[in-house]
Amino acid sequence: MTQESSSMVGGKGRFVYVAAAFSALGGLLFGYDTGVISGAILFIRQDFALSDFAVEVVVSAVLLGAVIGAALGGDLADHLGRRKVIILAAVIFALSAIGTASVPAVSWLILGRILVGIAIGMASITAPLYISEVAPAKVRGSLVSLNQLAITIGIVVSYLVDYSLSDIQGWRYMLGLAAIPAAILGIGMLPLPDTPRWLVNHGEIDNARVVLKRIRGKEDVEKELDEIRTGLKKQAAGRAELMNPLVKPALIIGVVLAIFQQVTGINTVIYYAPTIFQFAGLVSASSAIFATVGVGIVNVIMTVVAISLLDRIGRRPLLMVGLAGMVFSLGLLGLAFFLPSLGGLLGDLAVVGLMLYVGAFALGLGPVFWLLISEIYPLKVRGLAMSIASEANWGSNLLVALTFLTLVQAIGTPGAFWFYALVGIGAWIFVYLSVPETKGRTLEEIEEHWRAGKHPLEMGKK
Ligand code: BGC
Repeated sequence: MTQESSSMVGGKGRFVYVAAAFSALGGLLFGYDTGVISGAILFIRQDFALSDFAVEVVVSAVLLGAVIGAALGGDLADHLGRRKVIILAAVIFALSAIGTASVPAVSWLILGRILVGIAIGMASITAPLYISEVAPAKVRGSLVSLNQLAITIGIVVSYLVDYSLSDIQGWRYMLGLAAIPAAILGIGMLPLPDTPRWLVNHGEIDNARVVLKRIRGKEDVEKELDEIRTGLKKQAAGRAELMNPLVKPALIIGVVLAIFQQVTGINTVIYYAPTIFQFAGLVSASSAIFATVGVGIVNVIMTVVAISLLDRIGRRPLLMVGLAGMVFSLGLLGLAFFLPSLGGLLGDLAVVGLMLYVGAFALGLGPVFWLLISEIYPLKVRGLAMSIASEANWGSNLLVALTFLTLVQAIGTPGAFWFYALVGIGAWIFVYLSVPETKGRTLEEIEEHWRAGKHPLEMGKK
């Protein structure tokens, strides 16, 4: 990244928004490519005459790929740089979109969807990581969560695309269309620089200074540069830092939150909403799809609400209110399915319950998990530690996707919802006892906090 090329992008201080917006396209692809299969699979099943098992394999292939992509992405981001890995993910997104749109046989489709997943796994780490490292501390929460907003928009767009192309059974177009945002992401990232923090870590101090001036829109950046360098000096080399007993609490918090984000059931709704609505008696496919789009829109709107609050009231209150809302709505959903006397009312209650549930997720656990894991790790191992947390996230996502229908068969629909509610109570207690408040802190202050061996909850106290 040269001085001239960095000056091509954005005006005074606005640069950071341009950078955040482009990298958030990674989130759009994450959402689109995970959501699109829900509609596409109906026609893929017909075209290739798939068994139930083959359908499950096609649907889960993307999650398997994401586990692999998450494992690769962080290490690569620490070595090659955040920007290069986002560009690499964009190239894989584009190629696999075109590839999956033109496959002759289902085995190729499965391979292609694993590749899509690898790109999703990589982007799920590097997009929030990149934004977190360029954002000023006081707006970092909202900027990083643009990524989550993009995920939710991607999901709704995928539902709408599926709906509009279902008349022509156009599953190949559904999958192929992802090449467009992928190209915009890849091309858009080309003139952007890497993050000042990554540059400092790789000895490119002069470049880091140029980039910092650009993103802060001011000449005097020496103080911030010094803080980044001082922080780095205190860190052990490479993986040793991860094993540092003082850093371990951060690692555990990230991994446990990752598991809770999935094991409270969000993707049973995102991937199976039409099926749940059919359990509830909404028989026509069009009313089930309509209700599903409604759930997707609530997800987007409540993410916007979260973005406006994250840097004002903080991460912890949103997590706790959001989790309480999820537990309440899961309890309600379980009750609705438990009482046979409800009759036609069950469909309405299911719609309201699912909307409440998704809204509560979007307010807390959705954005806050990805935000926190981009903030709480020391610079030298930030990518690697994020990899571990996102592997836990994608692994649990895969587990829930594979077990949801079996769980419903084993303990019934109310039992399944109550089970997720119980896990939600566990998550609330965990957050209450150990998740730190990172609002308004610089990434270097957060590192310093762990190094001082203080309790996570003390982080929020000035
Ligand atoms: C989760 C995804 C989920 C999405 C829904 C993300 O934060 O990681 O698994 O599908 O939110 O909005």
